Amino acid sequence: MKIFVATHNAHKLGEIAAILPGFEVVGDDPGEVDENAPDFAGNALIKVRAIAARHVGEWCMADDSGLEVKALGGAPGVRSARYAGEPTDSAANNRLLLRNLEGAGDRTANFTCAIALVDPQGGEHVCMGRVFGRIATAPAGVGGFGYDPLFVPDGFDRSFAELGAETKNSISHRGRALAAMKGLIDG
Ligand code: IMP
Repeated sequence: MKIFVATHNAHKLGEIAAILPGFEVVGDDPGEVDENAPDFAGNALIKVRAIAARHVGEWCMADDSGLEVKALGGAPGVRSARYAGEPTDSAANNRLLLRNLEGAGDRTANFTCAIALVDPQGGEHVCMGRVFGRIATAPAGVGGFGYDPLFVPDGFDRSFAELGAETKNSISHRGRALAAMKGLIDG
């Protein structure tokens, strides 16, 4: 089965393909869309609608995800990619996060992923996934992307960037949302 994914992020496309064996995963850059919804689900719907018009009768999906830190009132949230400003810069985002958490007693956080899906009949669906953990006091590891070097999932003492793709995908927000999506597609 073919599924079009609204992204230009090769790393994300690879994660999705690894989690969905049996699918032909095809990237389609949604271009300049205004991701101005207040939540992840709304932004995922904006992105999937931007590509679904080009693939009538096919499955299309978009994901929107980010990091929510309890001590920061849920920030960076939907602003995760551009937390430290634009153009997006993961190292700068991680530095700002560490600075904003200096002295914080509570470093609990979660990643959230919303996947919006358009089915071949044009019906819209949203699947959510979350992973809970904490923000380390220093980055560790070279794998993954974004905030992975700082995020230590519950039950582990190493960051997502240290754990490797297989372990990350098996517990991640995106892995969980994709599993829900796969269940929805398989009926
Ligand atoms: P997007 O809008 O879904 O591409 O994600 C927004 C931002 O959230 C990314 O640029 C990252 O900063 C962060 N993010 C989302 N998922 C992950 C992840 O699995 N690891 C690390 N950072 C992530």
